[in-house]
Amino acid sequence: MHVAVIGANGGIGREVVARLADAGHDALGVVRAESQFDAVRERGGEPRVGDLEGEFVPALQGADAVVFTAGSGGGTGWDETLLVDLWGARRAVDACVEHGIDRFVMVSAYGAGDPSASPEAIRPYQVAKRCADDYLEWSPLDATVLRPTTLTDDEGTGRVSAAFEHPEAAGAEIPRADVAQTVVACLAHDETVGETIRLFGGDTPIDDAVQSDG
Ligand SMILES: NC(=O)c1ccc[n+]([C@@H]2O[C@H](COP(=O)([O-])OP(=O)(O)OC[C@H]3O[C@@H](n4cnc5c(N)ncnc54)[C@H](OP(=O)(O)O)[C@@H]3O)[C@@H](O)[C@H]2O)c1
Repeated sequence: MHVAVIGANGGIGREVVARLADAGHDALGVVRAESQFDAVRERGGEPRVGDLEGEFVPALQGADAVVFTAGSGGGTGWDETLLVDLWGARRAVDACVEHGIDRFVMVSAYGAGDPSASPEAIRPYQVAKRCADDYLEWSPLDATVLRPTTLTDDEGTGRVSAAFEHPEAAGAEIPRADVAQTVVACLAHDETVGETIRLFGGDTPIDDAVQSDG
C-alpha cells in the first residue's frame, strides 16, 4: 500500500515511515522542507514536500492511505494550533475525499475525548484535536482515530494498552515508537475502521491490542 505520512519529520512520523517500509509498504514522507528529504530516505521512505498551511495536495498523489501525525507543537501559539492541528487536518481529510484516498489514520491526543476535563492550559489544543477528529469521523473515509496519552522517546516495546470505548480509561505514558507501530497495525486490520482508540503504554502485543479492547 502507498501510505502518505503527513508530519513525516516528527517524532512519531519518523517512526511511522521506518515501520511502514519495514512492513513492505511504500511510505510517502510528507515534510515541509527539502532539507528533510534525506531523513525520510534513510528510513526507507520517498520524500514529498507539503505544507498544511500552504500546498500539500500534490504530495498525496498516488497514496492509498494517509496518516496524519503533524502538529504545531507546544512552542507555538493557539493560532498555529488552529491552522495546523485543526484546519490542516480538515484540509487533509477534504483532500482525501476529493482525490479518492479512502483510508485515513489520525494521530490525535488522549484528552481530545473530553477537552473540558483537560488542564485549562491545554484545553484549546484538545478542542482543536477533537474538532479535527469529529470532522474525520463524520467524513465518508475509512477512518481510525488514535488518541495516545503523554508521549516519550523511549525505545518501543511492541506492546500497548488500547481502550476502545471507555472514556474514563487512563494509563501509562507511551513511547512514540509504539504509537507508530500501532498506526501500521491499524492499516493492516480493517476492524479498526470506524474506531477511536485511546492508547497507553501497556502489555498487550500491538497486533492483538488493535483487534480487541485490551
Ligand atoms: N506531546 C505529547 O505528549 C502528545 C500526546 C498525544 C498526542 N500528541 C500529538 O501527536 C502528534 C505527533 O506528535 P509528535 O511528538 O510526533 O510531534 P512532533 O515531533 O512535533 O512532529 C510534528 C510534525 O508536524 C510537522 N508540521 C508542523 N506544521 C506543519 C505544517 N504546516 N505542514 C506540515 N507539517 C507540519 C512538523 O514539521 P517540522 O519537522 O518541519 O517542524 C513535525 O515534523 C501531534 O499531532 C501531537 O499533537 C502529542
